[in-house]
Amino acid sequence: MDVKALLNQMTLEQKVAHLSQFIARCIVHDEGGDITGPSRNLSLTDEELASCGSVLNVAGAEHSIATQKRHLEMDPNKIPLLIMHDVIHGWRTLYPIQLGLGATWDTDIVERCSRMSAREASAGGVHVTFAPMVDLVRDARWGRNMESCGEDPYLCARMSEAQVKGFQGDLGDKTSVCACVKHFAAYGAAEGGRDYNSVDMSEHTLREYYLPAYKAAVDAGVGMVMASFNTINGVPSIANKWLLDDILRGEWGFNGPIISDYSAFRELKNHGFSTGNKESARLAIEATADIEMMSNCYVKNLCELVAEGVVKESQIDECVLRILELKNKLGLFENPYRNADPELEKALALCEEHRAIVREAAEKSAVLLKNDGVLPLSADLTKIAIIGPYANMGMIGAWACHGIADEAVTVYEGVRALNPNATITLAEGFKGDLNEEPDYKMIKEAVKVAKKAQAVILCIGELSEQSGEARSRADINMSKAQIELVKEVCKANKNTVCVVFNGRPIILTDIIDTVPAIFTAWQPGTEGGNAIANLIFGKANFEGKLPMTFPRHQGQVPLYYNYLNTGRPVVGAKDRFYSGYIDETNDPLFPFGYGLSYSSFEIGKPEFSANEMTREDSVTVSIKVKNTSDVAGKATLQLYIRDLYASLTRPVKELKAFKKLSLDAGEEQTVSFEITEEMLKFHTASGKYEAENGEFRIFVSDCSNTEEYATLILK
Ligand code: GLC
Repeated sequence: MDVKALLNQMTLEQKVAHLSQFIARCIVHDEGGDITGPSRNLSLTDEELASCGSVLNVAGAEHSIATQKRHLEMDPNKIPLLIMHDVIHGWRTLYPIQLGLGATWDTDIVERCSRMSAREASAGGVHVTFAPMVDLVRDARWGRNMESCGEDPYLCARMSEAQVKGFQGDLGDKTSVCACVKHFAAYGAAEGGRDYNSVDMSEHTLREYYLPAYKAAVDAGVGMVMASFNTINGVPSIANKWLLDDILRGEWGFNGPIISDYSAFRELKNHGFSTGNKESARLAIEATADIEMMSNCYVKNLCELVAEGVVKESQIDECVLRILELKNKLGLFENPYRNADPELEKALALCEEHRAIVREAAEKSAVLLKNDGVLPLSADLTKIAIIGPYANMGMIGAWACHGIADEAVTVYEGVRALNPNATITLAEGFKGDLNEEPDYKMIKEAVKVAKKAQAVILCIGELSEQSGEARSRADINMSKAQIELVKEVCKANKNTVCVVFNGRPIILTDIIDTVPAIFTAWQPGTEGGNAIANLIFGKANFEGKLPMTFPRHQGQVPLYYNYLNTGRPVVGAKDRFYSGYIDETNDPLFPFGYGLSYSSFEIGKPEFSANEMTREDSVTVSIKVKNTSDVAGKATLQLYIRDLYASLTRPVKELKAFKKLSLDAGEEQTVSFEITEEMLKFHTASGKYEAENGEFRIFVSDCSNTEEYATLILK
């Protein structure tokens, strides 16, 4: 399609309308859609609605086809809609929440999950997914931790590019979907972990920690970017020309559509950044924001702003062209329905091939935190108790798209399938409300069940709807009801294993000394129960590593591994005058990169090809890893650096590479990493991205809490 010619046939009003996005229900009511539809609240005229460029939230293939068909009847230019949706961790067959994907440290399974998701979503009539969400997170209180791959810029960047590749593949392939990386930028740094709250940080911190994962998506060819709700240093992202035009488009070369978050244009007034919708329209188009999601600032004001000479028509043309070019890439002009196919959508949903992928992801995402030998449970057990309200509940997490919790395999169903002849008894033990007080009647019933069993699987943590958007928690402790239950059940039966369902790091300190074995399954998705049963009974081995620090106390939050040393570090302190608390240590309960396995690994001393290097060369570090157990397993080797003295203070550790090794029982392998100048670069005091000469410490281990290092000199 010659999009420039198409642009020239559009009137100014039609071009302006093309920059709006409304929910699909404004075009065609899906079943249950309210008769007025939000379009009435936006006082849209039929002409404005007829020329809108995109919609979000279709109910499936039939609704998508009906929406596109109806739109093409209405649009005088017959320009197909872009149909977008939040396909975050699956369309109908769900994989673990992103925080669980981050815990896999496995870009291959992450890419395969995204690919599977694109196949299902494209059959469901979706062209663009509002994913991957790659906001770096450090504050466990924030509800949207569950959507992120964690606290490290390097790990988040690798997961970001894997998802873009998985979703997009070749955009000309109709089974792909265009990815829309979000929320640009630094939404995860909302003050106090409170959703939508302000973000204030130095440009250095923004560039060092928060931007890399978005840039990785752009470098991987992401088709769209969504600007975030939050301000950065007083400027709301959707109106932030420096962020959107100078950095995203200017420095990174991104030339796809930028979309706002839901009604973020209209919210510029609430921020106190705009006097009203007309000013908001001007600010956003100046920042090169292309698509306005679910508000009407552009459609109601841009024509007037052009007539007043405040906005040039050419600015609007640039926005429309970016949208038309994406439609062209997706082949919509040749086939407006792309891969929408109700029969295919039905056939793919929950199919065995997709179940196998999401089960593998759920197994790989679980992180074993403690095991006193209770795990794995024997397959010969005949009396098993499963306790907790999540025992027979599908734990699919927030942002579950068209996934249905009741379709997900529960822990009970997974254990039943593996142990068909065992007697499995359930007890609720607590209800699962936040800050719930103990119900001693429920606890007594659970203890009775625990006493009669040979082993107990105790399901604790938080409900899917206790994390996600607008789900921040000021108190991330387990409820007293859960703590009391865990203590009583573990007293009643020493053969107890705890499964934690969580969308964020929660405080496990009150139970960690009591429970003999505990692992987090995050919110594992459609095959969660089967994956958990496979792990508990040793059909699968744990390989997950924490992508986010688990604090010992919620008062430590935000707590992360790559902190600055300060002038009074706790290490080596001789008195109380160090950076710490009088009532808690600085140590986490479980550090970034931590995770146990049924296997045990011996990690040798790193061998360096040299202990100094120039910018022109590199140094190879090799390390022997031996599986000293009789169980095959995977070890995740992590390479960290520390820049000891620099023009800006540097973190005590920075992850720069990782590799997963599969080792049979008794097998030994040597793994190597290449240390390059690129790894040693940072945004220096001079504002350049470069490495500075000097002394570096190199750590190679299977967790961030290692203190073993070798010195490397860059000269
Ligand atoms: C929401 C979320 C964003 C999502 C959008 C559309 O408010 O912030 O992640 O993509 O609206 O549903």
